[in-house]
Amino acid sequence: MTPTRRVALAAFALGVAAFARPAAAQDLTLYCSVQEEWCQGIANAFTKKTGISVAMTRKSSGETYAQIKAEAANPKGDIWWGGTGDPHLQAAGEGLTAEYKSPQFAELHPWAQKQAAEANYRTVGIYAGALGFAYNPEVLAKKGIKEPTCWSDLVKPEFKGEIQIANPNSSGTAYTAMASLIQILGEKAAFDYMKALHVNVSQYTKSGAAPAVAVGRGEAGVGIVFLHDGVTQAINGFPVKVVAPCEGTGYEIGSMSIIKNAPNLKAAQAFYEFALTVEAQKTGADNKSYQVPSNSKSPLPEQSPRMDKVKLIDYDFKKYGSSSERKRLLAKWDEEIGSQR
Ligand code: F6P
Repeated sequence: MTPTRRVALAAFALGVAAFARPAAAQDLTLYCSVQEEWCQGIANAFTKKTGISVAMTRKSSGETYAQIKAEAANPKGDIWWGGTGDPHLQAAGEGLTAEYKSPQFAELHPWAQKQAAEANYRTVGIYAGALGFAYNPEVLAKKGIKEPTCWSDLVKPEFKGEIQIANPNSSGTAYTAMASLIQILGEKAAFDYMKALHVNVSQYTKSGAAPAVAVGRGEAGVGIVFLHDGVTQAINGFPVKVVAPCEGTGYEIGSMSIIKNAPNLKAAQAFYEFALTVEAQKTGADNKSYQVPSNSKSPLPEQSPRMDKVKLIDYDFKKYGSSSERKRLLAKWDEEIGSQR
């Protein structure tokens, strides 16, 4: 064989090896629980910055928690980015996520730091957002229904069939709603309220933001969602308004956790660091996601609902993110509400 031919063959073999790389050998496996568009946006920005390729799966918060738990003996994911904080705290409490403290920790808002400290640094806050209603004023006007301003409005007979909310098992948004109602009304009254609400609910969706999409399309009058998810639909050009309930409301600390025994730990840490930077947090507004970013140097997007204008409860993240409480409340919801249809 001539030397030229030998070199050509070797180059061919190398090329094949590169192509034959199995999908599982991705540089980073990201489990993402925000809106699909932002999941793609941050994954692309990370790859552009670091050259690390990303295999991304988008699932709701409760679903991702369940997947990480099911895979615990043989983890497939490296990092879980986004989604409400309660199931991240539950995963931390069950030892499903790994301890990590970023050198950027001091730059984070106190609420994001508190989330980490309460979980022994097995999770951290990456954004915040208040819960409320997204409604379609055109749909409501056509039916002669007054625009809602309070939780108490949504159980009135005129809202029958007009309301959508997600299922709290799959969705962190809906779990936040249930935990908020319990903290506002007390547990007994909150379950009575959810039973009354059930009569008016047309659909329990899988994802928390889906009701806002349905409202935009005119398929529902009102969605119980995070306010920023309603704003996204308004920015997309749909007739959607948002309001925070008059009695007060809960909020989320969207979180990020490195999965315990992550197959690609170094890449997971690189993503974690990237996600806390101002540059990465800007990808939210760039992809029409208007949560409040956790880095204190990140500017608040002008479209973001102002949390300081909302009557927020002092949401007990430790309690409602504990494994026993989340399990107990979801089982109770299944028994008393979910099984009703
Ligand atoms: O990306 C939108 C968003 O509302 C996040 O703010 C939140 O953490 C997540 O979706 C919750 O999604 P789900 O209710 O589907 O778990």
